[in-house]
Amino acid sequence: MQIEMVDLKGQYDKIKPEIDQAVISCIGSTSFINGPAVKEFQVNLQQYLGVKHVIPCANGTDSLQIAMMALDLKPGDEVICPAFTYVATAEVIGLLGLTPVMVDVDPNTFNLTATGIEKAITSKTKAIVPVHLYGQSCDMEPIMILAQKYKLFVIEDNAQAIGADYTFSDGSKAKTGTIGHIGSTSFFPSKNLGCYGDGGALMTNDDELANKMRMIANHGQEKKYYHKVLGCNSRLDTIQAAILNIKLKHLNSYSQARNDMALFYDTVFSAVGELQVPARQINSTHVFHQYTLKVKNGRRNELQQYLLKLGIPSMIYYPLPLYKQEAFQQFVSTDFKLLASEELCNEVLSLPMHTEMNIDSMSFVCNSVQSFFKK
Ligand SMILES: Cc1ncc(COP(=O)(O)O)c(C=O)c1O
Repeated sequence: MQIEMVDLKGQYDKIKPEIDQAVISCIGSTSFINGPAVKEFQVNLQQYLGVKHVIPCANGTDSLQIAMMALDLKPGDEVICPAFTYVATAEVIGLLGLTPVMVDVDPNTFNLTATGIEKAITSKTKAIVPVHLYGQSCDMEPIMILAQKYKLFVIEDNAQAIGADYTFSDGSKAKTGTIGHIGSTSFFPSKNLGCYGDGGALMTNDDELANKMRMIANHGQEKKYYHKVLGCNSRLDTIQAAILNIKLKHLNSYSQARNDMALFYDTVFSAVGELQVPARQINSTHVFHQYTLKVKNGRRNELQQYLLKLGIPSMIYYPLPLYKQEAFQQFVSTDFKLLASEELCNEVLSLPMHTEMNIDSMSFVCNSVQSFFKK
């Protein structure tokens, strides 16, 4: 039985005629850069997310960088981010001459908390980057209250959670990525809303920030050949936008398929004492970009090898907290340590999770994991 972490081919096969037609029509039109599909996608995504502005760009890392450039931060300013995340979140902070201040995450939800963030705030703190890891929202309401109290910007790194809903204490709901001052996201092929190459976008309800980010993403120009600020070249290809217009229509059903699968996994794995199934943040839906177990008693690597021998792939997102990465040594003292992040790096294991998984494959994964713990 062939089992994949993600099955992009299977997903493509189901929407092939529509995708092929859209791509061929883009090539035929030769409007490869800023063609009509880009504007169309911008509007479609605005409507889907319920946000005033979407600014498409070249990838998720660029979206974070453009967001930070738009906030006029100065070298030495501190930006709070989780230590347990993908490198891009903190990389752009360092690249811009800012200081990433890495904070521990909640060991159950894997996300930053307002309490953890507050302890790290200093007079130099200017922004917070909560990452909605694996597909569910950080508890954003207390984070936004904190940001208001200390006059900080919030950039949500929504690369893994597009489509998730956050519910505020008054019952109102918002899509992740639209709650902070700026939201950023990635359309990397394996993301929940993935294109067939690189892609990304910024979200905001703030007109001024939207204009600035649009300008930065386009060489700092508002009018062709008149450059107001230093910018970069970060555009979403027309072909990718055409693909995203089609895939966006399926996003809710993709999220549902992922949730159905997570429930199936949960039922089996919650009965295994050495496993902890993904905790749910009560005020967020989960879109299961990853289904990530915690494997206790130091048996994670052994389980991973066992599954591999049976042809079941799994991934460790992430093997090191960022402060242990060589590239980040310049930002931390040698004895810097965050307990939950360290523990998670040793315990997390993400299992195959995608929209094309069938019941036989899921049962095979479940039976294999069970058989490991019965050995
Ligand atoms: C949390 C997070 N932030 C940022 C990124 C960067 O996105 P991209 O690969 O499109 O640059 C990713 C994608 O892998 C991610 O998972």
